[in-house]
Amino acid sequence: MCNTSTLLVVNNSYPGPEIRVHRGDTVFVNVHNRGKYGFTIHWHGVKQPRNPWFDGPEFITQCPIRPRTNFTYKIILSEEIGTLWWHAHSDWTRGSVHGAIVILPAENETYPFPTPDGEQTIILESWYNGNFKKIIDKALAAGTPPPQPDAYAINGHLGDTYGCPTDTIFRMEVDYEKTYLLRIINAAMNEQQFFTIMNHTLTVVAVDASYVRRFKTNYILISPGQTMDVLVSANRNAGQYYMATRPFSDSSVPPVDFITTGIFQYTNFVGGSNASLITLPAMNNTDAMLNFISRIRNTNVTQNPPINVPGDTDINRRVFITLAVNDLPCKNSKCVVSDGFAASLNNVSFVYPHIDVLQAYYRNIRGVFAENFPFLPPEFYDFTGNLTGVVSAVEVGTRAICVNYGDAVEIVLQSTQMGAGGSHPIHLHGYSFYWVGAGFGNFNGETDPSTYNLVDPPLMNTIDVPGTGWVAIRFFANNPGVWYMHCHLERHTSWGMSTVLIVRNGSTIETSIRPRPSTMPRCHRT
Ligand code: C2O
Ligand code: CU
Repeated sequence: MCNTSTLLVVNNSYPGPEIRVHRGDTVFVNVHNRGKYGFTIHWHGVKQPRNPWFDGPEFITQCPIRPRTNFTYKIILSEEIGTLWWHAHSDWTRGSVHGAIVILPAENETYPFPTPDGEQTIILESWYNGNFKKIIDKALAAGTPPPQPDAYAINGHLGDTYGCPTDTIFRMEVDYEKTYLLRIINAAMNEQQFFTIMNHTLTVVAVDASYVRRFKTNYILISPGQTMDVLVSANRNAGQYYMATRPFSDSSVPPVDFITTGIFQYTNFVGGSNASLITLPAMNNTDAMLNFISRIRNTNVTQNPPINVPGDTDINRRVFITLAVNDLPCKNSKCVVSDGFAASLNNVSFVYPHIDVLQAYYRNIRGVFAENFPFLPPEFYDFTGNLTGVVSAVEVGTRAICVNYGDAVEIVLQSTQMGAGGSHPIHLHGYSFYWVGAGFGNFNGETDPSTYNLVDPPLMNTIDVPGTGWVAIRFFANNPGVWYMHCHLERHTSWGMSTVLIVRNGSTIETSIRPRPSTMPRCHRT
């Protein structure tokens, strides 16, 4: 149980250092690779206007930073506010290479709620009892799916349910009658998580670095990739309370059901007599999940209306994408990874090229990717199990979706119940999108759009597509570039559940990608 293992980390810390900035800042981060493998860093949720060069995903916007070299990222923040995070974007490295990005209001701005007395970053992580890169490499080589984690961690601590000494529990010290802002990040590899603080009310104020209409809840549900800002008042007259996290899963092959604890510790009351038993929704409690996510609403109903679509006429680009885990060996040994599994979007299992897609696009280098992402009519798929022709038709390739600058885009993401099912937290780089609709079963283009929330849809960068349903998102394609879109379950990303969204330049310099920096890491085969 209490093993030590060697992990690749940043500045000797796990989780890595926090980046604290103000809204609208530009940040430079110099990354020196002192590890054994090449890797890159992604600034998750930072839109990087016209600046895809520094977005980070390996082989999408850059080649890896090789060992003993360095690379400086220029991170341009625009309207993001609250909490985001950074993480490695190469294979599974992000499991130990990640940290928070705290975005405070700009100098002349205040919070839209009473200024908290203190704040605390809470990073939820997966824990492997051993060096997880080795564990995963071994699994892939053996042709088995990547293993489940042994536990979860809160800020690098495994808590007192794991069976290691009590100094591995995370403790947040609070003063009676003070209010704290929790900046919660789900950095777990493959698991949505419930999170709670016993006997305390949580008030959600922001999701994915956009403010939301405040609401009170006893627990939150947060998907891998997502971030949430939550207020909590230390209004209990007692010593200590558990904070706890547990996975949520609607998959038939669920992750380990493990509750990880931390402690919400009142400094002015010593002792542990009031730590109550932990109550969290059960791992497969879909109602608890739905109940929570349906309450996430945008604050800006009047000032900043979302894509306003009387009669839907303003949407000029509609994209329908199916998500599948193809639980069968790929054809002609053209697998994405060596374990024989594949996952796909519209039946294409994504393969990383050896030169980044962005460079190939910018410099017109042929043969690196194709702009022919297939668009199949919704009727092609039936999540209920009518999969004839689908499994055998899985293709492997590097195919991009192209849209024009200024397009009003709607993407409908439809799960197909292949393999073990389960929901998919889909993340789009370079954008915050409006989450306008969701439902179970097959998306119905005739009737489902009338259920959309076009009044106060929240802005997000990662949205959970239920394992037996669909989700609709909308955004204006106003950030030219090459942007990765993928499932934030690392297992599915490794199997190819991703694609690239290319937003072409507009007609002016201000609507075009910035020039390519001369410092970009060079690409090497292998
Ligand atoms: Cu959290 Cu592609 O990223
Ligand atoms: Cu997935």
